[in-house]
Amino acid sequence: MAKKKRKWKKKPLFFFFGILLFLLLLWVLLGVYLSNHPSQEAQLKKLGYSKEERDIFQEKLSEKDIETILEMDYQKNLIHILEEKNFEEKYFTYYLKFLDLYPTAPVEDVVFLVNHGKDELPYTPDIHTILTHPEFQEELLDRYLTYYQKYETEGNLTIQAVNEGLDEEDILLDDVVQLFLGQEYTILKNMDRYKNYYATHKDLAIKEIITRVNSNLDKTFYEDITPTDLSKENLIIVNKYYYLKKDYEPENLVAISSTYGTGYIKKEVLEAFKEMYNDAVKVGLYPYIQSPYRSYSRQSTLYNNYVSRDGKTLADTYSARPGYSEHQTGLAMDLGTKQNHSISAFENSKEFTWVKENAYKYGFILRYPKGKEYITGYMYEPWHYRYVGKDVAKYIHDHNITFEEYYAYFVK
Ligand code: DAL
Ligand code: ZN
Repeated sequence: MAKKKRKWKKKPLFFFFGILLFLLLLWVLLGVYLSNHPSQEAQLKKLGYSKEERDIFQEKLSEKDIETILEMDYQKNLIHILEEKNFEEKYFTYYLKFLDLYPTAPVEDVVFLVNHGKDELPYTPDIHTILTHPEFQEELLDRYLTYYQKYETEGNLTIQAVNEGLDEEDILLDDVVQLFLGQEYTILKNMDRYKNYYATHKDLAIKEIITRVNSNLDKTFYEDITPTDLSKENLIIVNKYYYLKKDYEPENLVAISSTYGTGYIKKEVLEAFKEMYNDAVKVGLYPYIQSPYRSYSRQSTLYNNYVSRDGKTLADTYSARPGYSEHQTGLAMDLGTKQNHSISAFENSKEFTWVKENAYKYGFILRYPKGKEYITGYMYEPWHYRYVGKDVAKYIHDHNITFEEYYAYFVK
């Protein structure tokens, strides 16, 4: 019992020192642990990040993101990335990877490119020029980058090329192409042809080269031929490049009563002519339709007669070969006057002066004008009018262009 009592008496002291020792040990262990495992906060501080920066990290980043930062040296750009308005936490490691590869890349570019999935891109100053160009369009990003990678054009040119659609036609924006861009009737699909024509016609104005190529003058009459596109309806073109099949007959042909002329023509063309005729009559003039629709075989007879009379070369300047005559469309007419049906006398009539000024108001154009013979392929024909509808006729009249030029740019 006594022995037991003595032991009990010593116990409190034993406990006290025991616990103290234990706490001391814990404290030492914690210290050791903490010195080996400092908090992220402490580690960031150690790397040189300010309190303000650390707060922003804590607010915008996950622990995992911060772990990543802790593996790197101090990066001033980091904070700018987080402050970028399009910053997305889920892409954080991609931003870091990008910056690691291109440490001088402006953070706006980094965030923008990564957000658009372009983190694999070889980044260059030209890409910076593209992204910051005043004419940069975000929805064209892929096209800019693809064009740039393909042609290695400098940033400004890349923007210009894609904004003009050159990428869609696979055109490299070089000095010659530059001459043709932004011109009134430039057709991108024709660019190679413009370049070829330019190479052999350096003396010509660029505008003239465009006119010629658009009108197919870089090709050979009656050799480089295509069946015309009948779906164009009133805007069907028929000339020395575009032909009608032998059996083509227009729909809605109507007979012309003797008040207006003779022969057959498309119904809507006759309606338009009547409208014009009625206004002409009001000023005492009487235009008269001659030889409107002509079948393939009729044209064949005419052309062959002309060839027998004048030879092929000359006949080709005023008569179409069968299949190549606009008269087969039912949209064309030659004009005389009620007084004198002869089309060759038409130019000296008052009707001619009036029709020339006014025909476009009713949807007609003078199809083979003076000075445009090299484009239309025919000598001046003051009597030959073609129906195209009012809007088109007005445009052609106001811009003083041929149907060839109009068709290439607006219809084809
Ligand atoms: N005289 C026109 C060009 C034709 O023969 O169709
Ligand atoms: Zn004619």
